[in-house]
Amino acid sequence: MRTATIRNLTRKFGNTVAIDNLSLYIEKGRITGLIGADGAGKTTLLRTIIGLLLPDEGEINVLGFNPEKQKDELNRHIGYMPQKFGLYEDLTVIENLKLYADLKGVDISTSSIAGNESVLTRMLEFTALAQFQDRLAGALSGGMKQKLGLACALLGDPEFLILDEPSVGVDPISRRELMKMVREMINPETTVLWSTAYLDEAHSFDTAVVMDRGRIIFNGCPQDLASTPQEFEDKVIELMGGYSKGKSQIAENYDYSATDIEFTVEADNLEKRYGKFYAVKNNTFKIRKGEIFGLLGPNGAGKSTSFKMMCGLARPTGGTARIMGIDIKRNPEKARANLGYMAQKFSLYGSLTVKENLDFFALAYNIDIAGKDKKIKDIIDVFGLNEYANTKAEELPLGLKQRLSMAAALIHNPPVLFLDEPTSGVDVLTRRDFWNHITSLSKKGVTIMVTTHFMDEAEYCDRISLFYKGETIAIGTPAELKQKAGAKDMETAFINLIRESGK
Ligand SMILES: Nc1ncnc2c1ncn2[C@@H]1O[C@H](COP(=O)(O)OP(=O)(O)OP(=O)(O)O)[C@@H](O)[C@H]1O
Ligand SMILES: [Mg+2]
Repeated sequence: MRTATIRNLTRKFGNTVAIDNLSLYIEKGRITGLIGADGAGKTTLLRTIIGLLLPDEGEINVLGFNPEKQKDELNRHIGYMPQKFGLYEDLTVIENLKLYADLKGVDISTSSIAGNESVLTRMLEFTALAQFQDRLAGALSGGMKQKLGLACALLGDPEFLILDEPSVGVDPISRRELMKMVREMINPETTVLWSTAYLDEAHSFDTAVVMDRGRIIFNGCPQDLASTPQEFEDKVIELMGGYSKGKSQIAENYDYSATDIEFTVEADNLEKRYGKFYAVKNNTFKIRKGEIFGLLGPNGAGKSTSFKMMCGLARPTGGTARIMGIDIKRNPEKARANLGYMAQKFSLYGSLTVKENLDFFALAYNIDIAGKDKKIKDIIDVFGLNEYANTKAEELPLGLKQRLSMAAALIHNPPVLFLDEPTSGVDVLTRRDFWNHITSLSKKGVTIMVTTHFMDEAEYCDRISLFYKGETIAIGTPAELKQKAGAKDMETAFINLIRESGK
């Protein structure tokens, strides 16, 4: 039985061919993973399947409907989580859930999963949002929002669940729960189409579809391609054209001015309190010049709040931070001039093109006019943004937005870089590239504070502070943390240390 049949689908945007004569059958009752390079056409495909975009050519049949003509009928059978899920930021967590339940016609008083608990209780438990159910959705951390979005998409027992990168920004513990949750929630008849940049996830699905430039380059059982998740990642990279680590052109061209300051970044009893709730409490650490310092922790731990306070975007309720010895509270502008910050949430100008955004940042940071155009050209080249140089930032696929944000953070050659989840939503090859730049910059002397939910990336950090419920629960090199947790890999160390913290 098939849930969806797609024949010779083509979809263009201007001169760009997003989907190129693609044919695909999606089997009923199976989980199909959709993977591929940034801009490969995954989101366009998902949106076309549910009728949000119309095909230029080709035929689509989904659950017996033609999405082009019967979008509304079809959507009653579908649970869709777009990349940017439309939560109502000025409604609370529980109000969002109730609203979506209402929209899907779910009777929250009687309907149940696995027979007993109410749907909402189960959703709150799964998302670990029960204690925050009265918090406004707009005040949730990035990962908490992602989990709430998924919970909303799961309501109403859809026949066909379409998830566009649901695990972006979700911490390792919640990611396991998310997978379990979807598996438990669906019945053997439910079809799932799940796009993801996590290859371990894709490896565990029934089918994996790998896309490249609008075409399918692999479609089959992931276990047939490789037996372990690690081998699967290697195979997918091979399919995508292979990765060879070269010199980081960013680091080569970086105009780094040496400093004799030993500790370039310091957090000094940093605290952020909202009412009685401490998002960050008593946080103190020092980062050495040229160090890669990982700030890791589960969703809502207080990582982004720390980043924002440390670059002067949020005012601490206690303590302070120093960048290159300059107090961020007393001298915010001077401290910030030494800093490049890549926010978790895309924060560039959506209506400006890639090139205009970079131009803007170059001017804002007084990059010398003579060198500016070359600098921008180089950075566009290195981040593979050439074919998007005149595309509006808001129209970029997620992975390319991330590349642009990273480029903008680096353009003025700051001695200190703050990167809040730089690789979330980025494809597997680009992730390696990003880390090549990060490690090469650190060798040059640039200090980097970074966070990630990819535990393989945590291994690249010189030191890690593991953050949980606003406080540091462990600090040390990756080897020290693994030893402390009695674990062989960082993912297990992360999970063990969080559990053992007793918080
Ligand atoms: N305006 C606010 N009012 C109340 N609580 C807030 C507000 N802003 C943030 N918080 C809370 O502070 C906590 C820390 O959020 P933060 O964004 O720093 O987490 P994070 O560690 O970056 O998580 P993630 O991995 O999901 O990005 C969360 O519980 C969040 O809901
Ligand atoms: Mg965050």
